[in-house]
Amino acid sequence: MLIWTKEYETGFPELDAQHRKLFEIIGQMTNVIDAPVIDITAAQKLVTHLEDYARVHFECEERCMAATHCSSRGINKEAHQLFLEGLQRFKRDFAGSGNKHELLTILQTSLQAWLRNHILKIDTKLRGLS
Ligand SMILES: [Fe+2]
Ligand SMILES: [Fe+2]
Repeated sequence: MLIWTKEYETGFPELDAQHRKLFEIIGQMTNVIDAPVIDITAAQKLVTHLEDYARVHFECEERCMAATHCSSRGINKEAHQLFLEGLQRFKRDFAGSGNKHELLTILQTSLQAWLRNHILKIDTKLRGLS
């Protein structure tokens, strides 16, 4: 479970609010994972919601990094692209015949690790540029 702390602050309130929202959406996966039977439709809806929200956030953050000439703007954009590709891979795997519970658990764990690491190493390079 990702808990918001000040170490994640970028100094741009709109981006910080979006990061919190991403934490929240990833956290909501627990409800699907912990259910006695995996609700496939609910899981797919949540992943689509995450994808849509992440796209909006990434565009917003990329604009912000470009406007402030942030040194991480190139690497940030590439990382966002890889994130979205990873979600497409997950959707294909999830639609296949694999163990849904296991796939969702791995997805949630890797999303949490990715987001935490990404914000701390890349997004927070915006700090001081507002
Ligand atoms: Fe980012
Ligand atoms: Fe971000």
